[in-house]
Amino acid sequence: MMASSPPKPVESLFVIGSGIMGSGIAAVGLARGLRVHLYDVKDTYLDKGLANVRKHLDKMAARGAVPAAEVPKLFESMQPTLSLQDAAGADIVVEAAPENLEMKREIFHKLDSIVRPGAILATNTSSLSITLIAAATQDPGRVVGIHFFNPVPAMELVELISGARTRPEVLDRARAFAQFLGKTVTGSKDFPGFITTRSIGVLLNEAVWMLYEGVATREDIDTAHKLGFHHPMGPFELADLVGLDTALAILERLYTGFRDPKYRACPLLVQMVEAGKLGRKSGEGFYKYPRNE
Ligand SMILES: NC(=O)c1ccc[n+]([C@@H]2O[C@H](COP(=O)([O-])OP(=O)(O)OC[C@H]3O[C@@H](n4cnc5c(N)ncnc54)[C@H](O)[C@@H]3O)[C@@H](O)[C@H]2O)c1
Repeated sequence: MMASSPPKPVESLFVIGSGIMGSGIAAVGLARGLRVHLYDVKDTYLDKGLANVRKHLDKMAARGAVPAAEVPKLFESMQPTLSLQDAAGADIVVEAAPENLEMKREIFHKLDSIVRPGAILATNTSSLSITLIAAATQDPGRVVGIHFFNPVPAMELVELISGARTRPEVLDRARAFAQFLGKTVTGSKDFPGFITTRSIGVLLNEAVWMLYEGVATREDIDTAHKLGFHHPMGPFELADLVGLDTALAILERLYTGFRDPKYRACPLLVQMVEAGKLGRKSGEGFYKYPRNE
């Protein structure tokens, strides 16, 4: 008798936002044989996202995570869209739009009447309240946090966050979905920053304060973390990868969420975001990234 593969926990995935995270989430979904829609608000953003999905698939093929011969077919199977209505048939929606509470609440409010009952609505937020996002829907029990890490195809962890009203069976299905994508899942309650964002927010901010105060150079702060703690990247390299605007949003969330001054963002970080120095994605953050890199 032939061994049958376990049933997929979901068949169709609708990803909202084709940026850094959305393109990675779409790529892992495709690699696991899901039907994937990738949504964004403008053609130009979608085109950039598609190019990144292809890059992710090629890298996955290079390390043997998907057969190289399958890549063109998987990529072609993806359905890019500018219409949220296409989420109607999805089993799970993963939202990876910018880290902005009002924007996410508006997206979930719209999704609520589009996506069939029984489907899961997940947000990839790093720091916002799952409970508040869920409250924009009629059925907050089906809303959950599924927090992937960057780059999605390479990073093993998914943080699963239970909102105050998330139903246990929704949590179980979301966990099965993340495990099906090959991820190891940790659970957290819905308090600001969950586990990882709270820790990393403090670390990045403290590194910027040290730079701002002239304690050390960015290179020495990065080297100290890499060699002293075996961190694969220094805090400034990591901030540039994550995006300085995202890092600032995380700190604002911790600061207002806990009402605790220990989370106050360093003015240097605020100023860099105001100057448009957002890290790799803008070509300059704490380090410079020539466009042809
Ligand atoms: N970058 C990271 O390392 C990282 C890691 C984990 C979680 N996250 C979280 O993932 C989410 C996305 O982050 P990112 O780094 O991919 O951002 P990004 O800026 O790279 O991508 C966001 C995408 O959303 C699109 N968008 C803008 N307005 C939209 C709307 N109204 N509806 C749908 N899409 C819209 C943008 O065009 C863009 O393509 C955020 O909530 C962030 O906190 C980011």
